[in-house]
Amino acid sequence: MQTKQILELYLEFYKSRGHKQIPNVSLVPEGDPTLLFVNSGMFPLVPYLSGEPHPLGSRLVNVQRAIRLDDINEIGDKTHTFAFHMIGNWSLNDYFKKEQLPWAYEFLIEQVKLDPKRLFATFFAGDKDSPRDENTLLLLQQIFAKYGVEAKENERLFACGKDQCWWQRGEAIGELGGPDSEVFYYIGDGEPKLGLVPGENDDLFLEVGNSVFMQYQMTESGWRELAQKNVDFGGGLERLAMVVQNKSDIFETDNFYPIIQKIEQLSQKNYRDSETITKSMRIIADHIRACVFLAMDGVMPSNKDQGYILRRLLRRMVRNGRNLGVEKDISVNLVPIVCELFEWLYPSLVQRRTEIQEVFSLEEDKFWRTLQKGSREFERLYATLDTSNLEELASKAFDMYQSLGYPVEMFLADLDDKAATVDLQAFERVYNEVAGKHQDMSRLGAEKKFKGGLADSSETVVKYHTTTHLLQMALQDVLGNHVKQVGSNITSERLRFDFTHHRKLTDEEIKKVTALVNDAIRACYPVNFVMLSKDKAIEAGAGYLEHETYPDEVKVYYVGSSLESSLSKEFCGGPHVDNTCKLQPIEIFKQEKMGEGKVRVYARFS
Ligand code: ALA
Repeated sequence: MQTKQILELYLEFYKSRGHKQIPNVSLVPEGDPTLLFVNSGMFPLVPYLSGEPHPLGSRLVNVQRAIRLDDINEIGDKTHTFAFHMIGNWSLNDYFKKEQLPWAYEFLIEQVKLDPKRLFATFFAGDKDSPRDENTLLLLQQIFAKYGVEAKENERLFACGKDQCWWQRGEAIGELGGPDSEVFYYIGDGEPKLGLVPGENDDLFLEVGNSVFMQYQMTESGWRELAQKNVDFGGGLERLAMVVQNKSDIFETDNFYPIIQKIEQLSQKNYRDSETITKSMRIIADHIRACVFLAMDGVMPSNKDQGYILRRLLRRMVRNGRNLGVEKDISVNLVPIVCELFEWLYPSLVQRRTEIQEVFSLEEDKFWRTLQKGSREFERLYATLDTSNLEELASKAFDMYQSLGYPVEMFLADLDDKAATVDLQAFERVYNEVAGKHQDMSRLGAEKKFKGGLADSSETVVKYHTTTHLLQMALQDVLGNHVKQVGSNITSERLRFDFTHHRKLTDEEIKKVTALVNDAIRACYPVNFVMLSKDKAIEAGAGYLEHETYPDEVKVYYVGSSLESSLSKEFCGGPHVDNTCKLQPIEIFKQEKMGEGKVRVYARFS
């Protein structure tokens, strides 16, 4: 069964149970300052899981592209991928465990025909925040019995603690979470052995889905029960394809194999020739897919944030291409394959092919030049290098960065290629000392900064969110209607707003924009929302993001006593304050020209 068919079956299964499909949105999170990439299907649903009504109702389903940075170093084995697709279904205070669990297994066993004897599951063991999940245990036993399988605790069903059987988006106050029940597929040879704990035997079990019973919210004093009980189910589509297609290697599924075949052709090597070849081919196949998805979502190679990750992936691909003897255009040659392979899911990709190839080609060429110079220099240095001397290592690495622009992670990768063992944490410390607060290292840290990080839905962040709407309104009033939001990022210290405009604002313009926002704050306008069809909302003049995908029915937040007389109206999921009185006057404290007709302004409460 092809991946496309698995997805169709899944969507249909839940649609026939009253679910509405929500869009597969951009990998670049909108309005979440602490998350670098959308990392799960529930990402766009946060406000609704905590109480905002969703325009499409209380039963939702989708497939969402996602990236988990944590997995970057695992790529190269047989199950991890950097970008993946998560199938998801949600109940927003509608059905709960007794519907979710039987449905999840019905889909896996009856629709995509997984052997129930190879399925294993977990449930929450209980702790001070939430009791042992007896209900899930009982339901799982009934479900397995229905399929003729006896499921005993500690044989097929395993209790586990927060480390494994609890899901939450992050650590910030306001985060949502709850106990979960994971389902694993036994991927070992022969009959599955009972009693092996799935979470402790990664080579034998593959997690294919997770039902989270999202019913808690993090407060200053710990987890508090939410007024509503939600279900958040997520499953890795590519992993599911792996088990449905009966493969022991995710790169042999229809999601990757055509890419591998093209790499075989380009390198004149066979995927199974050696472990190093297999690993390099997997890395390339994985990264090109992620890079194309990132480019599709408007990310360009750069030195910051998402652009930096894209650059790093492209560079890693080049290096692995070099390991296979492919000296040129590895990414460029693979872009068409990825575009065609995923046309069924992203029809517009094929039209973007040439543009994406051009961007990748420039980046590859630039990197090749650096790489050639850097590698020669590394070889020269390596002959006399004492790899146990971290000081020396770090200072050579820093010199190469300064003189050749050779990235520190490449230096580390070269050492790795030479099988030199280096304590990375200690190296990082010493390098930081050598380089001072060097920017390059902070880029290495970018992953940590964003790792699992999450929007805080604190009062201040909500206030800045409403203020951002007022700011957009004021910018349009002062600069003209060509002003359109292209990005937004809010922390509890400030808001940041990116918009289309060809130059920075003059002092006079800044004064006017600030005054308009502050007047609106002082005027105490109510803030409300209405649900409208997408066409009606556009017709009503509500602002929206051009590259965003919206459902047919959208929520429009407006500031003012009615939609018609409002100062500001925008497609937006919320949350917002209910009256502008609750905001404080602002100051714009910084602005930057971002190139390509974009300007970024920063504002904070003064
Ligand atoms: N949000 C849950 C997960 O990502 C379903 O595992």
